Amino acid sequence: MFVTGASGHIAAAVIPELINNGHRVVGLARSDASAAAITALGAEVHRGDLDELDDLKAEAARADGVIHLAFKHEAMRTGDFTGAVDSDLAAIRAIGETLVGTDKPFVTTGGTLMLAMAGITGRPGTEDDQSGGGPRVDAANYTISLAQRGVRSSVVRLAPMVHSDLDHHGFTHALIGFARENGVAAYTGDGSNRWPAANTYDIGVLYRLALEKASAGSTLHGVGDTGITRKVIAETIAGKLGIETMSITEEQAPRYLGFLAVFAGLDNPTSNNKTRELLGWEPTRPGWIEGVRTGHYFG
Ligand SMILES: NC(=O)c1ccc[n+]([C@@H]2O[C@H](COP(=O)([O-])OP(=O)(O)OC[C@H]3O[C@@H](n4cnc5c(N)ncnc54)[C@H](OP(=O)(O)O)[C@@H]3O)[C@@H](O)[C@H]2O)c1
Repeated sequence: MFVTGASGHIAAAVIPELINNGHRVVGLARSDASAAAITALGAEVHRGDLDELDDLKAEAARADGVIHLAFKHEAMRTGDFTGAVDSDLAAIRAIGETLVGTDKPFVTTGGTLMLAMAGITGRPGTEDDQSGGGPRVDAANYTISLAQRGVRSSVVRLAPMVHSDLDHHGFTHALIGFARENGVAAYTGDGSNRWPAANTYDIGVLYRLALEKASAGSTLHGVGDTGITRKVIAETIAGKLGIETMSITEEQAPRYLGFLAVFAGLDNPTSNNKTRELLGWEPTRPGWIEGVRTGHYFG
């Protein structure tokens, strides 16, 4: 199996899960450090870059299936979300076109927040909720369309807070970092809007099951906690840091929540019912509140 983003957070659970279940894994690495991380997970290394599309195509053609996890998060954090989204779509298209007519599995990655951004709020978003287009949604919709063209394609929509001791720079760390910097853990309005979460180790199992048995065109939800209110998230972090929480306005969000401001007020409860039913997947690892209270996040 070919895995992009193989040196990242999610892959740190996905790759061992694949190898422990008999899969041979080749991971994409763009640096010596990434190659070393992938080797340490027990996978083989393919040197290349997300933007080297011919190379991605060649590696996809050699593989029995592809899991796409790479994403230019550093571009997103420095304000070039569009550039990151465009690269992601171009890579997915390159791999997808290579796999057409092969019936091989191709698992790509999206986020549940895109449901809220598409206006699905106030109730748990489901796997059947789809959106016409937009950042990252275009990549998901393209992936699903491959089902009509002989690819066993599926999309995993991940909760924004995937957490565990494998997480070194995700949204949970960002929230804690902003709370530390500001001396308060901020939430917008009354903090009743909800974010879902998932444990990385459960997500590792989900990607393996998607690769092995998701039907062509499946949308899957990588969600453990359906939705935790932003107020409770802030209180959990504040409790650990020994600081106060604070309600802020949407206008104040960039000052207190940096690049997370755009997501801060979104209500994104998300169901995983269909995913569990389709794949027989059951999240068993600790939820976000327990993970943050007892986990590694505060050293
Ligand atoms: N973690 C979450 O909570 C979460 C939530 C929702 C959605 N997601 C999505 O899940 C996917 C995986 O996320 P993650 O948390 O594992 O991300 P991550 O830890 O930031 O890892 C990103 C991976 O992409 C690779 N990458 C970035 N730019 C590249 C390039 N130009 N060429 C080749 N590789 C490149 C990185 O390689 P280097 O090691 O060389 O940097 C790394 O392996 C992403 O699509 C992400 O947006 C994650």
